[in-house]
Amino acid sequence: MTGPLPTQLLPDTAEVTADGALRIGGCDVAELAERFGTPLFVYDEAHLRARCREAVAAFGDGVAYASKAFLCLAMARLAHEEGLQLDVATGGELHVALTAGVPADRLVLHGNNKSLAELRAARQAGVGRVVVDSFDELERLAALHAEDGLVPRVLVRATPGVEAHTHDFVKTGQVDSKFGFGVASGDAARAVALAGDAPSVELVGVHMHIGSQVFVADFFHQAVEVVAPWVRELDLPELSIGGGLGVAYVKGEAAPTITEWASSVLSGCRDAGIRARVLAEPGRAIVAQAAVTIYTVGTIKEIAGVRTYLSIDGGMSDNPRPVLYGSGYETALLRDVAAERPRRVTVVGKHCESGDVLVRDAQVPVGTAVGDLLFTPVTGAYGHSMGSNYNKVTRPPVVFVADGAAREVVRRETLDDLLRNDVL
Ligand code: LLP
Repeated sequence: MTGPLPTQLLPDTAEVTADGALRIGGCDVAELAERFGTPLFVYDEAHLRARCREAVAAFGDGVAYASKAFLCLAMARLAHEEGLQLDVATGGELHVALTAGVPADRLVLHGNNKSLAELRAARQAGVGRVVVDSFDELERLAALHAEDGLVPRVLVRATPGVEAHTHDFVKTGQVDSKFGFGVASGDAARAVALAGDAPSVELVGVHMHIGSQVFVADFFHQAVEVVAPWVRELDLPELSIGGGLGVAYVKGEAAPTITEWASSVLSGCRDAGIRARVLAEPGRAIVAQAAVTIYTVGTIKEIAGVRTYLSIDGGMSDNPRPVLYGSGYETALLRDVAAERPRRVTVVGKHCESGDVLVRDAQVPVGTAVGDLLFTPVTGAYGHSMGSNYNKVTRPPVVFVADGAAREVVRRETLDDLLRNDVL
């Protein structure tokens, strides 16, 4: 898009100074790039805390942060401090959350293929909830119960068959899904009955998650209506509507706030006669707009009559979303955030792969040059967490900024880190 970067895509405490510089959390972002190098993730801590508080205020106790969106020790601790539970989807996420000091009973364990070892670790730690995703998992839980007699609280994950209009890869509530138990097939009812009778688990509710980057509250209402009959009949104490609230990534997009989402979902539940406590698991809506990623422009290649490639020093290893889902991002220059952006370029990464495109149709200021610091806003969710070491590129650091101070919460990987697990 031409025109300056829409500032509503920036984190809460972002300011664009009179001379066009960007400050977040009272820190000059260009100075952070100088100090920590690029690529660099900068997270606005006040923004993160504000979204966590908003979620707790909107849903009450029981709302969990979906840690897959962005997880490190500092984030796990922050979400816990602000009163959120944490959704962990693997033994790895469980380990990070526990290491951060989050009490196990504040954790919700997810996963469509939890191993015996993951289930054992989670139960023995005393996780608050296990969201059961398959009949095999119910058998594993029974086998573990025979070993140690522990009885975890569980929710049964149902797939309500609602097609939320979002990218195919992040759609999870439809009939053809690897997640949960289908409602239409009767599997969900069977799983609820089995879990209700099993001495190895304590059934406390039903869970669903209809997809991610969902903007329309209607989809949540449809899903609630599908599962409402059991929740009413069984009088289960809890219903989790999962996560999925979308956020604006580019100019012209608008998303409901967490408060608006919650009030719409909660009134939908009341209308469906649900008396259960309604839980939710937002990920993206908590962290996406809290961060920006800073890159340095390394080469600019104009192919006459075709396009201009502008290469930055990161790419699909720190943000694979454009490659995976065709996701769009805005770009701007740190030296003049308020500048008009009339020049069309394709921002690409440094990986040995033609598909390593960060922003296909990016608009940048006319004088954009090698050495400029370029940034993409709204990179707080599923960027760092889905990053890789492709081409042995070292992962960028993560810096939290607040009240004029910056703290590195994930340090930059070193070349030696790349060899840590190699054996000769
Ligand atoms: N709960 C469950 C069970 C989930 O599977 C997910 C996300 C969430 C909560 C959080 O959803 P959120 O509020 O963040 O939409 N990598 C994709 C998104 C994958 C989402 C996977 N599950 C992306 O970058 O768009």
